[in-house]
This record gives sequence, structure tokens and C-alpha cells, in this order.
Amino acid sequence: MNGEPQQTDTQGKLRHFLSIEGFRREQLVQILDAAESFAMLPGRQVKKVPLLRGKIITNLFFENSTRTRTTFELAAKLLSADVINFNVNVSATSKGETLLDTLRNIEAMHSDMFVVRHHASGAAHFIAQHVAPGVSVINAGDGRHAHPTQAMLDMFTIRRHKGDFTPLRVAIVGDIQHSRVARSQIMALNILGVSEVRVVAPRTLLPADVRTLGVHVFHDLEQGIEDVDVIIMLRLQRERMDNALLPSAHEYFQLWGLTQERLQRARPDAIVMHPGPINRGVEITSEVADGPQSVILQQVSYGIAVRMAVMSMAMGNRSGDQGT
Ligand code: CP
Repeated sequence: MNGEPQQTDTQGKLRHFLSIEGFRREQLVQILDAAESFAMLPGRQVKKVPLLRGKIITNLFFENSTRTRTTFELAAKLLSADVINFNVNVSATSKGETLLDTLRNIEAMHSDMFVVRHHASGAAHFIAQHVAPGVSVINAGDGRHAHPTQAMLDMFTIRRHKGDFTPLRVAIVGDIQHSRVARSQIMALNILGVSEVRVVAPRTLLPADVRTLGVHVFHDLEQGIEDVDVIIMLRLQRERMDNALLPSAHEYFQLWGLTQERLQRARPDAIVMHPGPINRGVEITSEVADGPQSVILQQVSYGIAVRMAVMSMAMGNRSGDQGT
């Protein structure tokens, strides 16, 4: 077995992006600054840059995705890379091929980067342990463990709307227990130095060790979002629940659904975020999801710029150097 994969090389240059854990504030800010330069591209006549021309990027998605897979693909194409989309439903994985054999076969096609989504926690780390030197692995969500590019696009969205991180109170609401997104967001928010990270959830949807993550815990939605600057709503991840942890969706909404009336408890300029997919009438009303304080679709758009930043940095190109 190979050792634990290093996310950066000896000069601190990004190689893999598997988890927010272990990164310093200035490294996360470098990703956000690089994404800022890519966020300008949609306004240009020619949206493509040649940074990854000649590179092959493979999207290895073993679990369904709408936002992450398509924005990774678009980001790679805007960087001029060639993209292979590995579709598990029509691949030999369904005939019993192991993850490692699948990897070896796609590696033989000279891929320079794997973007990995898998239902098993640790899958992206496992692949990073086994790829050839020079090949990068980006975690696009593994089990309940981590979703680092989602966290970074969320940080980018917060910075775009709020500027400085340090005075901010941020509430993450809902199914923390099963959420790789929440884990990555909590780490990123604490590294970037926000004033307070709150988790707001029923006891059955919180991990036992939640306080060790550096958060304040609330079991009442209205108290939990009082005076916050940012509210991040989470979906109930029923596909990762082992047993019945909840009453019905209707009862969940009565206690934990974000309505326009409850939103008044937050600061008047608070933004409402959600990584998607949203379940209207379960964790959020349509009035809030489509309302003026919602930045949910902006998160998706910013995901393209953030993923361009991460992919170009992992392939050796640093912020601001966009070529022509
Ligand atoms: N936020 C997110 O990971 O969405 P998808 O599952 O659609 O990629």
C-alpha cells in the first residue's frame, strides 16, 4: 500500500485536492484569488483560455451528480483540456471490475487528472495513493467525508457578497451528520477565520463529535439563525441514512424548514445558500429559494471559476496567469 497522498508538493504547490484539512489560510485565499480572475471570463467574447491545452482530464463519477460533474466538465473545456466522462452505468464496473483496475485502464489512456465522485468515504484518497507521479486527483465528493471544491465555491460566494470573512456569523442548517459538504465548509470557514460557525440541527442529524469541529451547536432553527450573515441550508441525505432518524418530510419542514418569516431572524442583508439539489417544501420554501436573499444559482456559476482555479493550479499554473 502506498503512503498517505500529499495534497501539495515540497514547494507548497497544489497536486491533489482531496480535503480542506491541512490547508493554510493563505493557500485557500490563493485558490479564491485565482478563481476571481476566471470569474471574469464569461463576460469576454472568447471564453476559453489555453492553460490546459494538450491535457486529458477524466471525470470518474461513480455516484449521480448534476452541478459538480457538469461544472467540472465545463471548467476543463474552458481551460482547453480534452475531457473524458466515465459513466459508471455503462462501464465495466457493473461487470465486477475493481476500482483499481478501472483506474489502471483509464490511466493507460494517458489521463493527466482524475476528478472523482464516489459513494465511499476515502475513495479519492485511495485513487490518489495509486496514480502515477504527475497525475492529479480532485475529490468531487466522497461519501460523507469531503467535498472540497463545493466548500471553496461556497467560500467564493460568501467573499463576493460579504468581503471580509472575519466578522461573519455563518449558520449551517439541517443534516450535518451525513453531509460531506458541511464538514468541508466548517473547516474552510474556520481556516478563513470567520467570527462564528453555527450548526443548527436536530440531535439525530449531528455527528457525536460535532463540537470538536469548532462550531456552536443549536437545536432550534430560529435561535440558530438569529443575527447571522450567512445561512447555508442542507438537504436531508436519505441515501446515506442507515435507519429512520427523522419524522416525515412534512414534520421536518414544520420544525426545520426555512420560511420567509423565519428568515427575518437573520441579519437583513443575510444571504441564503444551498449546495443543491434543493428539496422545496422540505428544508426550504420556494419563496426563500427564489427570493432576493438567495444566492443558490450564483453558487453554481461560481463553481465553474473555482474548479478552473483548482484544476489549473494542480496542473502547475498559478493564479492570474491565464495566457492569451
Ligand atoms: N452540490 C452538489 O454536489 O451537487 P451534485 O450532486 O448535483 O453534484
